[in-house]
Amino acid sequence: MLSIQRKKFSLPKDVTYLNCAYMSPLLKEVENKGIEGIKLKKNPFLLSPSSFFEDSQKLRLEFAKLINIRDPSRIAIIPSASYGLAVVAANARMNRAHKMVVAGEQFPSNVYPWMRLSAESGATLKTVSPFADLKDRGKIWNQRILEAIDKSTKLVALGHVHWADGTKFDLLEIRKRTKEVGALLVIDGTQSVGALPFDTSKIQPDALICGGYKWLMGPYSIGMAYFGDYFEDGKPIEENWINRKFSEDFTSLVNYQDEYQPGALRYDVGERSNFILVPMMTAALKQINQWKPENIQGYCASISEKAIQKLIHAGFWIEDHDFRGHHLFGVRLPSGLDLEKIKSRLKKNKISVSFRGNSIRVAPHVYNSEDDLTKLVKVLTA
Ligand SMILES: Cc1ncc(COP(=O)(O)O)c(C=O)c1O
Repeated sequence: MLSIQRKKFSLPKDVTYLNCAYMSPLLKEVENKGIEGIKLKKNPFLLSPSSFFEDSQKLRLEFAKLINIRDPSRIAIIPSASYGLAVVAANARMNRAHKMVVAGEQFPSNVYPWMRLSAESGATLKTVSPFADLKDRGKIWNQRILEAIDKSTKLVALGHVHWADGTKFDLLEIRKRTKEVGALLVIDGTQSVGALPFDTSKIQPDALICGGYKWLMGPYSIGMAYFGDYFEDGKPIEENWINRKFSEDFTSLVNYQDEYQPGALRYDVGERSNFILVPMMTAALKQINQWKPENIQGYCASISEKAIQKLIHAGFWIEDHDFRGHHLFGVRLPSGLDLEKIKSRLKKNKISVSFRGNSIRVAPHVYNSEDDLTKLVKVLTA
C-alpha cells in the first residue's frame, strides 16, 4: 500500500488540490528534467544526432511498460489526444452503411473527429447516453453501449472512465462485442491511464490515445499513443523527416525514402524529440511505473472511502463503487442545494475540484490525504 507522496510535489500547504483530472501538479523530479532540457539549448553542440532518437526510445519503453506491451515500436509520441484521434480518423475506413458508437457527453476531442468522419463518409454516428434515472446508472449505461454495437458498427470510441463523472466502461466486454462484429475499439485513456490499470494485452484496443498532462503527470503538449495491427501500414497526418526510414543518418536525409520507421513511429508528431518535454514525460512515467497504477487506484480508494459514505448519507449521489474510478468520481448535489454557493465556499476554502455539467468532479492522487476529502465533505455538507 502506498503512503502519501506529497513531498515529491511542490503544492502549497494551504491548497487542497483534488483536481488531477483537470491537470496534474508537477513532480519535482519532472520539473528538474524540464529545467535541464531548457538549459541544454544554451549549448546545442551537446546535442548529437543520437539525442534525437535515444530519449524518445526511452519514453516509448516507459509507456510500453505502463500499458503492458512488449514492443515499444507500437508507441507514438503525440502532442495531444486530438492529434492521436485524428490519426485514427484518417485511417478508419468508413462508408454510409457503417456506424460509429460513442458515449454521451464524451470529451469533445473524442467526438469531433467522428462527427467529421461521419460527415465525410456518410457513416452514422450513434451516441449512447445514460438514462436520467440514477439507479444502476453505470451498469445500465454499459449494457446500452453493448446493445448499440451491431454488425454495421465499424468503430467504438470511448474512455475507460467518463471524463466528467468517472463512470467506468467495461472495456473487456465491449472489446468482446466489437470483435464479434469486426469494429475498431479506440480508447481515449487521457482520464485513466496512469491512475487506473490498463492492460493492453488483455483489452487489445486498436488504438489507445492519451493526453499526457493529467494522469500521466507529464507537461502540457505531449501525449502517448498505442496503435495496433490495423494501423501497421496506415497514413500519418503529416510527413516529417524523422519518421522515415534511415532518418538516423543525418548525412543522407535527402536520399528521400518511401518507407517509414517501423510500427507506429510513422505517427509521431513532427519534432517529437522535444528535448524539454520528452525527458519530463519519461521521468513522470518512471515514477508512475514505480508507484504502479493499481497502487494509485488503491490509495485513492482508501482516502476517499469514508468521505464518499458521508456524502451518500447526506443525500449526494455518487456512482456505484464497481462502476466508477477511485481516482475520478462525480458528486451530484441533492436537490435544493445551490451550486453557485458551493462553488464560492470551495474557493474560499482553497479546495480545487472541477464542475462538469451538474456534478462536481473530484480527482484525488497520491499527494492527497484523507483529511483533504474530509475538508471537502465539510464544505459540501455545511
Ligand atoms: C477525456 C479527455 N480526453 C482528452 C482531453 C484533452 O484533449 P486534447 O489533448 O485534445 O486537448 C481531455 C481534457 O480534459 C479529456 O478529459
